Amino acid sequence: MEQRTLGRTGRDVSVIGLGTWQLGADWGEVSERDALAVLDTSAEAGVTFFDTADVYGDGRSERLIGTWRAEHPDTVLTIATKMGRRVEQRPEHYTLANFRAWTDRSRRNLGADTLDLVQLHCPPSAVHASDEVFDALDTLVAEEAIAGYGVSVETVSEALRAIAREGVATVQIILNAFRHKPLEEVLPAAQLAGVGVIARVPLASGLLSGRYTRETEFPATDHRSFNRRGEAFDVGETFSGVEYDTGVAAAHEFADLARAHGLEPATAALAWVAQQPGVSTVIPGARNPAQARSNASAGAVPPLGEDFMTAVGTLYDARFRAEVHPRW
Ligand SMILES: NC(=O)c1ccc[n+]([C@@H]2O[C@H](COP(=O)([O-])OP(=O)(O)OC[C@H]3O[C@@H](n4cnc5c(N)ncnc54)[C@H](OP(=O)(O)O)[C@@H]3O)[C@@H](O)[C@H]2O)c1
Repeated sequence: MEQRTLGRTGRDVSVIGLGTWQLGADWGEVSERDALAVLDTSAEAGVTFFDTADVYGDGRSERLIGTWRAEHPDTVLTIATKMGRRVEQRPEHYTLANFRAWTDRSRRNLGADTLDLVQLHCPPSAVHASDEVFDALDTLVAEEAIAGYGVSVETVSEALRAIAREGVATVQIILNAFRHKPLEEVLPAAQLAGVGVIARVPLASGLLSGRYTRETEFPATDHRSFNRRGEAFDVGETFSGVEYDTGVAAAHEFADLARAHGLEPATAALAWVAQQPGVSTVIPGARNPAQARSNASAGAVPPLGEDFMTAVGTLYDARFRAEVHPRW
């Protein structure tokens, strides 16, 4: 598995990482056994970067990773968590005292003295303007509670503001075959500044696997049911913000392109993200070991070639650009 430097963390991580929201909650039921098997399988396949958050299952995802970590102390791994969403999203909550309390909890959950990377979890826009917030994060680094920090963002403009902060090691942003805007400015700016880019929701919440139809139903505890119109959080996090039926039709078109190229759609979708210059790591979520194994294999796909890249650009322009591009 190719390793790339994760921005200003200076750490090398696998180009295909693992998203572990599924191991917490909001994706229907994922048993503890499956969750641990996903971590096992990913590590065996060469994945060295796990992304989690303190809110995923109210700490379940972090605790499972902590359990797994304790059983594999010699595995070289970078674990990124996030903080800021256990309270209402208001700028006054982004204080040094809260940061200390939140990171202490994550350190306990993950069984780590020092967290490898902590990301602000899609904070309100006003937080990006606050020097105090970033000073507080620098204090956590000085106190060795965290080794580095980054920002997970919703929009391109938030990403650019984060990249401009000299202490920010990484930005995390949605990038996939249905979400192209970060290619224009975010990836070049991050490369220039030496900031790592963690590409999330690379399968558009599974749509890009091409498995779903208009009739597919998701459990009530799955955000693909309860957040389809942004009822609980930014709608961009669910199916990448595209209207479901439009997404299904476009995903079937994408699947035809992938298969004509000799690849499974999910593999092609992940390779498409991984092969964008400036991306450090791609973090597909997996609910079982088979998905984790298949996703890791995307790290070995040879360059997709200009024809494939152009076809994905054409699909995006036809189906999504007008609605998606101005919004995020
Ligand atoms: N605000 C934030 O910072 C934020 C927000 C969202 C996500 N994230 C992070 O980004 C990670 C990735 O995003 P995501 O999990 O939301 O979306 P995603 O990676 O685009 O989609 C994950 C879903 O895709 C399907 N899938 C995965 N591998 C597959 C395969 N090989 N074949 C077929 N289907 C496959 C599964 O759907 P089924 O469940 O239907 O099997 C899985 O639950 C998260 O786990 C989390 O770590 C962060």
